[in-house]
Amino acid sequence: MLKGKKIIVGITGSIAAYKAAYLCRLLIKKGAEVQVVITPTGKEFITPVTLSALTQKPVLGEFFTANDGIWHSHVDLGLWADLMMIAPATASTIGKMANGIADNLLITTYLSMKAPIFIAPAMDLDMYAHPSTRANLEKLESYGNRIIEPTEGMLASRLEGKGRMEEPDKIVECIEAFFKRQNQLSQKKVLITAGPTYEKLDPIRYIGNYSSGKMGFALAESCAGRGAEVFLIAGPVQLKIHHPNIRRIDVNSADEMMDETLRIFPHADAGILCAAVADYKPANYSAEKLKRTDESLKINLIPNPDIAAKLGEIKRADQILAGFALETENEMQNALGKLQKKRLDFIVVNSLRDPGAGFQTDTNKIRILTAKGENTDFPLKPKCEVAEDIVDVLYGFWK
Ligand code: PMT
Repeated sequence: MLKGKKIIVGITGSIAAYKAAYLCRLLIKKGAEVQVVITPTGKEFITPVTLSALTQKPVLGEFFTANDGIWHSHVDLGLWADLMMIAPATASTIGKMANGIADNLLITTYLSMKAPIFIAPAMDLDMYAHPSTRANLEKLESYGNRIIEPTEGMLASRLEGKGRMEEPDKIVECIEAFFKRQNQLSQKKVLITAGPTYEKLDPIRYIGNYSSGKMGFALAESCAGRGAEVFLIAGPVQLKIHHPNIRRIDVNSADEMMDETLRIFPHADAGILCAAVADYKPANYSAEKLKRTDESLKINLIPNPDIAAKLGEIKRADQILAGFALETENEMQNALGKLQKKRLDFIVVNSLRDPGAGFQTDTNKIRILTAKGENTDFPLKPKCEVAEDIVDVLYGFWK
């Protein structure tokens, strides 16, 4: 998978820099060509001699070679690489990357990079949790950079917490998975629904649900990351999209979501319906605020359209349709019923009985049932990884 891939390993001034030597070794063993770019403080933690011996290339750390004035072109490095991996990335380097402070070769290389960029942070737990680090990482993600979350454990400070750079073998797994999935969906158009719907009662109030949109947005990023053109029909959520291949269409109500979905689905190769669509809406909208009285208030609710069932009805043989089932009991039975009734190719089951699964969490625990009778259980994972598992199943239909 990594044979012939050109990888820049960026090393910064962290005690975890010693792990970068092993990372370079693993990448080279897998056939990659590795060029190390190191910050001045990085050199205090690991010697360039070790790294150049491993990579069989001079380690680049300065804009010029002092004795002969040879310029190390960050622009050429940006064009040369298939991938840049900054491991370990300190809070300082992350801050400079987020703000374009180009005072060393690693940052200028980062700013010139044409290839995908991965960042494996390493720092003390309080530094990692600090709002400025969080904001910088969020900003870098919004530029399309991929963060390899640090793990929890004993840190160099002897404190326990989140901040340990991910282990080199896991980082290599991430890189391999990235190259494996890159361009898998390059010819495909995928429609995704995400978030809740709001059903208006009066100018002040609505009927809604707790969906944050995180699961659906993660699916959109995953499909776009594999080269698909994504149409993301999003209910009212606070999230931002990152990938340029995602076209976002904002809606409020189930009716609006239905209209947009019906408009786009005929042009799509697949639909993944992750939105938590309100099943009912108020029969009447009050143009004025409903006044409080001492009497109980009866609101007449009528069914919303079932978007998934409608798409199942009009789906062509060359299209794949996937839905979700959010359950609180009889998970399998209910999900199978929805799979069949809505004529889905597969359904992703998540249950509110599983801690860390469902609404608003950053994690989810799913089971995927296919119309062919396959049934796969996945452990609790971050929603971005859950999305990759779901898109792997989708891709399996086209292999
Ligand atoms: O957004 P998050 O906070 O990250 O939470 C993610 C999630 C819990 C919302 C997501 O993982 C999820 O389960 N989404 C589906 C929620 C839901 O409405 O499930 P359901 O079992 O009620 O619906 C079954 C399927 O029919 C779903 O694909 C749904 O999009 C679709 N549906 C439902 C009702 C309706 N009127 N139209 C529909 O298309």
